[in-house]
Amino acid sequence: MFKILEANELATNIFQMIVEAPRVAQACLPGQFLIIRVDAEGERIPLTICDYDREKGTVEIVVQAIGAETYALKNLKAGDSLADVVGPLGKPSDLCEESIDDLKKKKIVFIAGGVGTAPVYPQAKWLKEHGVDCDVIIGAKTKDLVILEDRFKKVCNLHITTDDGSYGRSGMVTKALQDLWDEGNKYDHCVAIGPMIMMKFVCKLTQELGIHTIVSMNPIMVDGTGMCGACRLTVGGEVKFACVDGPEFDGHKVDFDQAMNRMKLYKTEEGRLLLREQEGKTHHGGCGNCH
Ligand code: NAD
Ligand code: FES
Repeated sequence: MFKILEANELATNIFQMIVEAPRVAQACLPGQFLIIRVDAEGERIPLTICDYDREKGTVEIVVQAIGAETYALKNLKAGDSLADVVGPLGKPSDLCEESIDDLKKKKIVFIAGGVGTAPVYPQAKWLKEHGVDCDVIIGAKTKDLVILEDRFKKVCNLHITTDDGSYGRSGMVTKALQDLWDEGNKYDHCVAIGPMIMMKFVCKLTQELGIHTIVSMNPIMVDGTGMCGACRLTVGGEVKFACVDGPEFDGHKVDFDQAMNRMKLYKTEEGRLLLREQEGKTHHGGCGNCH
């Protein structure tokens, strides 16, 4: 069992938990994710790591309550426990593999959309700890949905934008990126993490501006272990699985329309059967619904 040390609501239906998981905390790096289960009968939930503390042996997750399982998670309090915390899974961010001297020469911008703000935090923090500056654009629908602002301010140059203009700049993250570019911020490297549609449009813009862009394909994962086949993607014409080959990929090579269509199809039994027909053996059927 994995003890919950802190549980807080950050915004409506978005909550944060700090969980005791010393082995995961010891080994994890920015960009990696965990699988958690609320209880032994529960579904596996893949969640990107928001922060970790190797000395205290803790990991932090941020979750949006959208289904039965995430609502069950939301109802847990400090002192309760999770049945499983498995990880770290997936590959760490490419930034952790590059030489610090090379990173210092780059102008790096992160685009953090909604709940996708949480997995951006460990990357910006890691860069700060290694003496590398970065800009972060947080995009949220309204002021109330901006999360982790104070923590980001300590590790990056922060730009906030809200769709309704209730806080920071006004408009979506793509507008903020274009404005910052026009204001003279000629970025070399972009990491975009958030809803699929946001990543698609950020990539469209960065392709026009010539900014190398990495995206995190977490949203299409189901079991997160390479078994179910749900996270099958086409990247640069090749079949990849987000949970074992990613979650981060070159955004200019990802077929977003296919991935979004797949997410829709995976939600119904009929859709999963159709995918099984179309994808043959690369649709593993491990989702348990394809018979
Ligand atoms: P949201 O719908 O509130 O969008 C967040 C921001 O994304 C918006 O404020 C806007 O600036 C930008 N955006 C949205 N649509 C856009 C478009 N068409 N063009 C340009 N920018 C656009 O986000 P939310 O409801 O908090 O997001 C939840 C989603 O985030 C879920 O789908 C979840 O799967 C995903 N998520 C992704 C990751 C990841 O690793 N990629 C991690 C956590 C959550
Ligand atoms: Fe990747 Fe199931 S989430 S195979």
